[in-house]
Amino acid sequence: MSAPTSVQRMDKIVSLCKRRGFIFQSSEIYGGLNGAWDYGPIGVELKRNLKNYWWRVIVHEREDVVGMDGAILTHPEVLTASGHVEGFSDPMIDCRSCKAHLRLDQLIEKKGIKQCPNCGGKDLTEARQFNLMFETHVGAAADESSIAYLRPETAQSIFVQFKNILEVSRKKLPFGIAQIGKAFRNEINPRNFTFRSREFEQMELEYFCRPEQGMELLEYWKEERLKFYENTGIPRDKLHVKTVPDEERAFYSKGTYDIEYDFPFGAQELEGVAYRTDYDLSQHQKASGKSLEYFDEETKQKFIPHVVEPSAGVDRTVLALICEAYAEDEAPDEKGKMETRIVLRFHPRIAPIKCAVFPLLKNKEPLVAKAKEIVDLLRPHMYVFYDESGAIGRRYRRQDEIGTPFGVTVDFETLGEKDPALRDTVTLRDRDSMKQERVRISDLLQLLSMRIA
Ligand code: GAP
Repeated sequence: MSAPTSVQRMDKIVSLCKRRGFIFQSSEIYGGLNGAWDYGPIGVELKRNLKNYWWRVIVHEREDVVGMDGAILTHPEVLTASGHVEGFSDPMIDCRSCKAHLRLDQLIEKKGIKQCPNCGGKDLTEARQFNLMFETHVGAAADESSIAYLRPETAQSIFVQFKNILEVSRKKLPFGIAQIGKAFRNEINPRNFTFRSREFEQMELEYFCRPEQGMELLEYWKEERLKFYENTGIPRDKLHVKTVPDEERAFYSKGTYDIEYDFPFGAQELEGVAYRTDYDLSQHQKASGKSLEYFDEETKQKFIPHVVEPSAGVDRTVLALICEAYAEDEAPDEKGKMETRIVLRFHPRIAPIKCAVFPLLKNKEPLVAKAKEIVDLLRPHMYVFYDESGAIGRRYRRQDEIGTPFGVTVDFETLGEKDPALRDTVTLRDRDSMKQERVRISDLLQLLSMRIA
């Protein structure tokens, strides 16, 4: 079997995502809405597992971080103060030949002449700035006074609520405020499946500190975030840390890293880790006239904290997890003949379904009853799936394709029909090795809980 090219690999992944209910094009039956995606029954589980794991690691397992959940509709003055109304734009160019709207960096250059990447046309407009924010109107009047924006990042509501959260949480520096939520950008060219979307989710942490701690914390958070990705099943050698050069960095940032992953379409950004200095809080203090200072009890000094921001994309990470997990290998079919098996090798921690439970035969009542007992035993602790239809090999294969790490089969030995010593034992199949071990039903919960933690 020759290895698929990266384009073929991506096509297979996109098709699997639709076929097995991970991701669908939004508004598909009306022709689709470009840049928007809907997650299906399996995709939503994967996405939730990722977000829950981030929240666990960033908020619940730390003393120094609290969470919040801000509004999507944002006051225009917030985004004026942050610089988004004036400067959150991409340079855009139109191709007069094929009418494509393009980002300046998408043009190709041949013999020093810029060309349209779609049709090769050279008749291009001048570059103009295109603001990426979605504007809407709040209330009945649709005029200048009613403008609001769909937030382009979750970060700004954290900065704007800094003082309230500081007061209620009674945290001391350094401490962080975390948020997971939707963000919206009217990207000129959404592409690479969900990678560049117009509606997406972010997982952002604003970690406030003293000015002298900024650079050290930038390094600390870069390392923490790399560990996080490794703990979700993305190996270190597929992650790259790019130091963003001075000329590409926001003017207020003293250091920024991009964490990139080797997608089939190239190494691309998963997350930015930026030392944003005191820019955001200072801007909001200036614009609102409200103090956003921190009072240091020890030194009796007041100052505006600095901030280090690890900002990750949920959808990009979900896509990276799927790309990383996708594999094709060989497994025997019902007759023992080898066939290609599609398997998603998710880390059990983020796998959408943790365990599938099968009675060997669906028309043998004692097998079915026992399998349902096992479902009842496991269900309060993890997402399990019961399946009694079709040959057992087919049932395994269906679970392999959505990445279920464990399969429990209830057979005649479970009933003690062949060997009384095997009564109340089941086979536990491992998705990756396809090996089966015999385990006691009474040990199952503890064993699986340990493996999916
Ligand atoms: N608060 C900082 C901030 O928003 P960013 O680099 O613009 O920084 C952070 O975005 C992360 O959000 C990116 O690393 C990426 O994972 C995700 N992201 C940004 N634009 C996106 C888009 N159009 N589609 C999907 N994810 C996106």
